[in-house]
Amino acid sequence: MLLALTLLSTSFLLAGVEAQTAGTCSPAAQFFDQRVDHSGHSTRTFKHKYQANAQFFRAGGPLLVIQGGEAGTMLCTEQMEIFNWAQEMNGALLSVEHRYFGESLPFGNDSYTNENLRHLTLDNIMSDTISLVDWYKKTINATDSKVIVVGGSYSGFLSMVLRINHPETFYGAISAAGPARAFLPFTDSNTERFNRYTLASNTWVEQSPEAASIVQQGFKQLASLVDSGKSDKIKDVFPLCNTPSKSERDDFLRNIAGIYGILLESNAAYLNPLFNTTGTPLETAINRTIAASSPLAALNETTAILCASQLATQGCWKWETQCTDGIGVQFTPWDYIRCNHQNFGMDVTPGTIFAPTLRPFDSTPHCRDTFNVTPPTRDELIAKYHFSEKDIRKTTRVIYSEAGWDPVRGFSVAPEWFPITPDTNAPRYMFIDGASHTQDTIRTMPGDSPALVNARLVQRNVVRTWLAQ
Ligand SMILES: *[C@@H]1O[C@H](CO)[C@@H](O)[C@H](O)[C@H]1NC(C)=O
Ligand SMILES: *[C@@H]1O[C@H](CO)[C@@H](O)[C@H](O)[C@H]1NC(C)=O
Ligand SMILES: *[C@@H]1O[C@H](CO)[C@@H](O)[C@H](O)[C@H]1NC(C)=O
Ligand SMILES: *[C@@H]1O[C@H](CO)[C@@H](O)[C@H](O)[C@H]1NC(C)=O
Ligand SMILES: *[C@@H]1O[C@H](CO)[C@@H](O)[C@H](O)[C@H]1NC(C)=O
Repeated sequence: MLLALTLLSTSFLLAGVEAQTAGTCSPAAQFFDQRVDHSGHSTRTFKHKYQANAQFFRAGGPLLVIQGGEAGTMLCTEQMEIFNWAQEMNGALLSVEHRYFGESLPFGNDSYTNENLRHLTLDNIMSDTISLVDWYKKTINATDSKVIVVGGSYSGFLSMVLRINHPETFYGAISAAGPARAFLPFTDSNTERFNRYTLASNTWVEQSPEAASIVQQGFKQLASLVDSGKSDKIKDVFPLCNTPSKSERDDFLRNIAGIYGILLESNAAYLNPLFNTTGTPLETAINRTIAASSPLAALNETTAILCASQLATQGCWKWETQCTDGIGVQFTPWDYIRCNHQNFGMDVTPGTIFAPTLRPFDSTPHCRDTFNVTPPTRDELIAKYHFSEKDIRKTTRVIYSEAGWDPVRGFSVAPEWFPITPDTNAPRYMFIDGASHTQDTIRTMPGDSPALVNARLVQRNVVRTWLAQ
């Protein structure tokens, strides 16, 4: 199943998964009889995993919902900042696993055939959450409760489209680092295309010009090995399972650059529940880069930070999948989603510390070969799900947060879409310096920067203001 990604660059890790508490939510997760197809063509149901907690709920309190994403392990509400809010706001809590991930498999072990994957649509995903919310509100006598949906990364995209497309169910939303731009193909000028690789490169230069220069030399050497047909030599430096062919050049180089991005996404001092890395990966990578015996060895040392668990279990790492299985991303359904409603991508442009790609990124051949699907265009997606700049600007009660370390902010919403206004319902943009990818959605931990702790307080106060109306 992991090989399904061979030709597709997966350089965009969105949400990972918590490694340490897999399957141990308290109260325990349960299963809901969910329709496989909400359009009414079939009455077939599947067991949809969720976790609910009404221990703090009092009549009139809100329902705080975590929308699941592409991870194999569902997030528990008690790991998230909304757990604190529930206590203060008399709220109920609900975590919704994303269909086709974790234990929410509509066709059991046969869920990932092309035939069965066809129910993995954005409409079904949204309807799943709506059905669960409606049912749970009835169950706890909360039919009048206002619902706030929270998501980070891909699920931050989902919380945004849920609020935009289903305002009758979702009163407000937190969308942390949700992709809203960079969907393919690029039809507009380059200004629309804030680039995660450029952001990652800039961060390296800003943090350590010395290390950045070594990385740049390493990528030059790596590119020249592939370009001169000496890919075999790469195995002397990197423990790759498969050697990239010349035609895989761009995918290979982009994926290694992507690992630098993922390490920034997960750059926190402690074990972030959303990732399986610890100990400030950026600082570790910079130190190892400077200490390495050569620029190529420095690249190997950095990729090894993310790929440690894959190396330990398989003895080599699959550059095709960027070792993201080690942090819990389930590739096949995520790949399918990337070919459907998350058709975003970008290239490494000249001038960064990475190797520029030669051909523009295009997922179409991969999506056709793998799933017999032609990805929708950006315009088609926006026309159907209403997440253009204009739609986003006019949708009230959404907080869009982005973190300073996180290169995903490059293709999330743009700060200039949100003028300063005293209107407390206006959509808001929040930049959190010194924070990693979606870190604001998880509970405060020792070592969180004052900016991050304050960002969570601001989010809570904004939500309280919405609810008080
Ligand atoms: C599905 O696969 C898992 C893991 O291989 C296995 O443990 C389980 O028994 C399978 N379930 C069915 C219904 O075949
Ligand atoms: C449900 O809540 C309402 C107030 O919100 C209350 O009047 C009613 O008695 C409650 N019903 C149950 C079954 O708890
Ligand atoms: C690559 O880095 C890892 C981790 O530090 C190390 O074990 C390995 O020897 C390095 N080189 C190669 C060729 O694998
Ligand atoms: C990186 O190196 C600096 C200087 O030697 C050291 O103070 C710091 O603790 C190191 N950080 C990590 C994460 O290894
Ligand atoms: C997380 O990393 C540790 C250490 O590298 C590894 O033992 C563990 O299996 C990883 N967890 C997952 C979910 O891959």
